[in-house]
Amino acid sequence: MEEKTIPEYLQEVEEAPLSTKEQLENFRLLWLSKKGILPNLFTKMKDIAADKRKEFGQEINRLKELAEQKFEAAREHIETSAIKTKNAGLDISLDGMPINTGSLHPLTIIRNRMVDIFAGIGFTVAEDVDIVDDWHNFTALNIPTDHPARDMADTFFISQNPDIVLRTHTSPVQIKLMETQQPPIRSVMPGRVYRKDSDATHSPNFHQMEGLYVDEGVSFSDLKQTLFYFVEEMFGEGTEIRFRPSYFPFTEVSAEMDILWKKVNSQTGKEEPAWLEVLGCGMVDPNVLENCGIDSNRYTGFAFGMGIERIAMVKYNIQDIRLFYENDLRFLRQFVGE
Ligand code: PHE
Repeated sequence: MEEKTIPEYLQEVEEAPLSTKEQLENFRLLWLSKKGILPNLFTKMKDIAADKRKEFGQEINRLKELAEQKFEAAREHIETSAIKTKNAGLDISLDGMPINTGSLHPLTIIRNRMVDIFAGIGFTVAEDVDIVDDWHNFTALNIPTDHPARDMADTFFISQNPDIVLRTHTSPVQIKLMETQQPPIRSVMPGRVYRKDSDATHSPNFHQMEGLYVDEGVSFSDLKQTLFYFVEEMFGEGTEIRFRPSYFPFTEVSAEMDILWKKVNSQTGKEEPAWLEVLGCGMVDPNVLENCGIDSNRYTGFAFGMGIERIAMVKYNIQDIRLFYENDLRFLRQFVGE
């Protein structure tokens, strides 16, 4: 290796390029590593004349200090700028990103509200399975074999003979309650039901909440009063409703209840008042009570069944039932429930 004077070495260290990792490593190899210039100079100490040795020693120590200082400073600089590049665009003083907590589906909000209203006047909640046998969905409810609800076009059959079906209403829960309990029975039954039915106000899978009250002396006026109370709690005082005489195989007398809502006229786009059927109701047919082992001479009862979707459509003025099932966040985010 060509010999240089210490001042020459000092100048070289001073001017060494040290801005990349590679240059840093080359510098280390050249000056500081075991076979580098500095250790080499220290081994030379012993060849220096005794009277010059002290001075030489001081000079190479200065060189060593400078080389180490330059190396450390350059290393630190390269490391911190690497961190800066990695974090470019990250501002740790900014607020955190909000975490979306989601919200209840409008049908859940309405269902909870309905349950609350009836719970306030002493109704308990009863729920059961969606797949039921012929007895619980039809026969115990006085629905004869030639009834249209039993048609393949109306009902989803899982198997036939014996018939197993997706329940077409939540009335099977009423049957199970009456089979297993004696009056007084006062419950609502919310749940999914299935019918082959599909348009703007019908869906093959929708939700119902039925209610049942069986005791001594229950009358049709109790039924009307209960439903009046429900409607005013749900939609506010003065909401207009009407009862129409109707027919159900499992109630005698039977009625349907409509609510006056604002329907958008598809031709003019304007809102017009219109009646929307929201529920069926009536006095439980004595045969049905007897089918379940309840003495129809002693007890009477009323029952009603309403579509949760229909109640939600009136409450929020939603024109098309299919909006509930599309899971479009722009729709779902508009509802706030407890
Ligand atoms: N079960 C009937 C239906 O699904 C509703 C109803 C329930 C009607 C109770 C009268 C009494 O349509």
